[in-house]
Amino acid sequence: MKLEIYDTYEEVSERAAAIIAAQIREKPDTVLGLPTGETPIGTYDRLIREYESGKLDFLHVTTFNLDEYYPISPCDVQSYRYFMNQHLFLHVNVPMDATHVPEGSAEDADAACAAYEKAMREAGGVDLQVLGIGRNGHIGFNEPGTAPDSLTHKVTLTQDTIEANSRLFNHISEVPTHALTMGLGTILRAKKIIILITGKNKQNALRQLLSGDADCPASVLCGHSDVTVLCDRAAAEGVTA
Ligand code: F6R
Repeated sequence: MKLEIYDTYEEVSERAAAIIAAQIREKPDTVLGLPTGETPIGTYDRLIREYESGKLDFLHVTTFNLDEYYPISPCDVQSYRYFMNQHLFLHVNVPMDATHVPEGSAEDADAACAAYEKAMREAGGVDLQVLGIGRNGHIGFNEPGTAPDSLTHKVTLTQDTIEANSRLFNHISEVPTHALTMGLGTILRAKKIIILITGKNKQNALRQLLSGDADCPASVLCGHSDVTVLCDRAAAEGVTA
C-alpha cells in the first residue's frame, strides 16, 4: 500500500483527479468504480474542468458506483444516483447508459445485486476503483464485521453511519436504514485502487487502515497489490509517509 500525504484537501483532490485522468487517457474505455460523499466532490470538480477544457474525454468510459440507499427512487435528491448526476455525470460526456448505480428502487434487492455483479463482470471488471472512507473505517457501506470476500449485497446501516449521513437530511429519521453496496470482495477485484482520506474526523480510520486493524473494513485493502492512500495533513496527523 502506498501512502501519499498532501497539505490540503485541494491537493488531494488535484492528485486524485490526475490519477483518474491519466487512467482514462491511457485506456479510453476505462471502467471506473466511484464513491459518493463529501470527499470526492473536489476530485469530480477537477475532472469536470479537465473535460470542459477539452483535455479529457469520457465518451468510452463506464462507471460503477459503490453503493446506493435502499429503497430509494433514482429521482430522490438524497439518492446516490442523483448525487452522481449532479456532481459528475451531467457535466461530462460519459454516456448515461454507461453509468451504473446499484438499483435502489428494485423490488428484489438480491436479484439487483446479482445483476450488478454480472454487469461489472461483463464490462471487464473495474480498472480503477476510487474510495472514500467512513469514520468507522467503512468503504462503500461495508461496516465492521463484513466478510472480506463479500459481493454486492443489501446491508442494514449502523447507527454511526446513519448519524454521519444525517447531516445531509432534514432529520435523522429520514435517513434510509438499508443500502445496496459492492462487497469487500467486489472492491478487491479492481485492478487498481485509490482511497481518499481527508479531514480530522478520519484520523482514526486512517490509523486503523495503516495498522491493518481487523475491526476496520478498509483494512482488507492491505491484501491488494495496487492501492494508493491519498490523505491530507489533517487526517494524517502523527503519521509519516
Ligand atoms: C459513498 C461511500 C462511503 C463514503 C464514506 C465517506 O459512496 O462509499 O463509504 O466514502 O462514508 O463519506 P464522506 O466522503 O462524506 O466522508
